[in-house]
Amino acid sequence: MDKISLPKPDDWHLHLRDGQILESVIPATTRCFHRAIVMPNLIPPITTVDQALEYRHHIIEACPGDCGFDPLMTLYLTDLTTPDEVRRAAAEPHLHGVKLYPAGATTNSESGVTSLPDLMPTLEAMAETGLPLLVHGEVTDADIAVFDREAVFIEHVLEPLIEALPALKVVFEHVTTSQAVEFVKSAPANVAATVTAHHLLLNRNAMFKGGIRPHHYCLPVLKREQHRQALIAAAISGNSKFFLGTDSAPHPRSAKESACGCAGMYSAPVALEVYAQVFEDNGALDKLENFASRYGPRFYGLPVNSQNITLLRKDWQVPDTIQAGDEELVPLCAGETLSWRVQEEQ
Ligand code: DOR
Ligand code: ZN
Repeated sequence: MDKISLPKPDDWHLHLRDGQILESVIPATTRCFHRAIVMPNLIPPITTVDQALEYRHHIIEACPGDCGFDPLMTLYLTDLTTPDEVRRAAAEPHLHGVKLYPAGATTNSESGVTSLPDLMPTLEAMAETGLPLLVHGEVTDADIAVFDREAVFIEHVLEPLIEALPALKVVFEHVTTSQAVEFVKSAPANVAATVTAHHLLLNRNAMFKGGIRPHHYCLPVLKREQHRQALIAAAISGNSKFFLGTDSAPHPRSAKESACGCAGMYSAPVALEVYAQVFEDNGALDKLENFASRYGPRFYGLPVNSQNITLLRKDWQVPDTIQAGDEELVPLCAGETLSWRVQEEQ
């Protein structure tokens, strides 16, 4: 097969930032995704519906031409998020979720949650209104190894949460371990997961190949090969609880190539092509359409997109860098040759 046509996919987990970076990265997403769940971890974070709608406006203004991109906005959950704000969000058609960052877990998570049990009334309002909780699933305890933080989070936070609020819709974002896959599979239908292209493509050796590789550092951090295999099995399984979310997270090259480089891989320029490659390498190209275009909308209660896009088998070289104003971004697979490419719109 040299050509794949599918309903235009959506990206169910994306960082777009704001200002110059937003303007520079948005075309890489709109070329192949019609909608995206936009993460709220800006500085300052997006904590109110009004801020989310203003940010949405910036995104639409930054879109190239008349691309029709539909940003699906989220709120950043803090210790101070009220049930009223949740109800306002649930009543607003452009708001689609509330993001839980445990305080200190990742980039711009300083305003995140310090005690989830104290937020019960807010979480109850989400369960009542059907507004999903989008979870960065890692504990932050200094004595838990960085590679174990997701597995421990399941036991310490997620299982008790789902038991306490069985009606709450939960997306376990960017799952990286076999434990997370097993947890989502055995959870009720209101619990789903996104899977990134980079966690399907790379295991943790990629961070250390011939030296320290800051562009392969993200959170949750890359895991062992056996976990990557569990993610691939989940993504190609045809189980509708697992769907596409890139977690594309651009940072200026200078902030990545630093004594304390920040977490995040800028995957949008190659993400759909990498998913296609991984599915093909595992004999499952026929499963790509459901994973990329159908299971996400099904979980979020949205229609499948009516536009189509086409991927062509065509070798192309990923640029080493992408300019973002005065800064450079280094995309996932920089300088490498990929064998699928999204056909540009005619
Ligand atoms: O690698 C990551 N980068 N993981 C996150 O959770 C946040 C993201 C970012 O915003 O850069
Ligand atoms: Zn993210």
